[in-house]
Amino acid sequence: MSDAAVCPGSFDPVTNGHVDVIERAATHFDRLIVACLRNVGKHPLFDLERRLELLESATAHLDNVEIASFDGLLVEFCRRRDIAIVVRGLRAVSDFESELEMAQMNHRLADVETFFVATSPLYSFLSSTLVKEVARFGGDVTPFVPRAVNEGLRAQFPGQSSAERLVEPGSTNLAEGTPHE
Ligand code: PNS
Repeated sequence: MSDAAVCPGSFDPVTNGHVDVIERAATHFDRLIVACLRNVGKHPLFDLERRLELLESATAHLDNVEIASFDGLLVEFCRRRDIAIVVRGLRAVSDFESELEMAQMNHRLADVETFFVATSPLYSFLSSTLVKEVARFGGDVTPFVPRAVNEGLRAQFPGQSSAERLVEPGSTNLAEGTPHE
C-alpha cells in the first residue's frame, strides 16, 4: 500500500485542467508530489523556475501537495522518492494511446503503476499548448488558467489583445516580436 503518488508533467504552463486533476488526486493520497519535467523541448515558454513558481501558487490551497522537479526518467524519480504510483489525467481517446504506452513502459521498467483521473468535461479540450497559442494571438485565456499564469502569459505576450487587433486591421504580423517556444 502506498500513501503517496506522483503527478508528473511539463506544466508549461499549469492550466485549470491540471489543477482539477491535482485537486482530485490529492484527496486520495496522504501526499501528492507534482513533478515538473525540467527539459520540455528546446524552447519552453516558461523556464523551470517559473513553472515551479506557478505550480506552487496554483496549489497553495492544497496542504498535502508538494512541488518538485525532475530530469531523466520518471521511474528514477519515483524510485528516489520510494513512490510506486503515478497519476495522470486522461482528457480524451486521443490521449489514451500515448498514455497507455507510457504507463506500460513505466510498469515494465520499475513496477510503477499509473492511475488515470478522467478529466472534467469542463477541461477536456484544454492543453498548455492551446492556451499558449490563444494567448500568443491575443485571445482571452482567463477561464482556462490560474490567475498567476494568466498574468505570466500577458507578460510574455504584451499588447496583443484581440480588441486592439480589431481596431487596427492594417496591423501586419501578429506573431512579430513574440518569443519563440
Ligand atoms: O505534461 P506532459 O508533457 O504530457 O508530461 C509528459 C511526462 C513528463 C509525464 C513524460 O514525458 C515523462 O515522464 N517524461 C520523463 C522521461 C521518461 O520517463 N520517459 C519515459 C516515459 S515511458
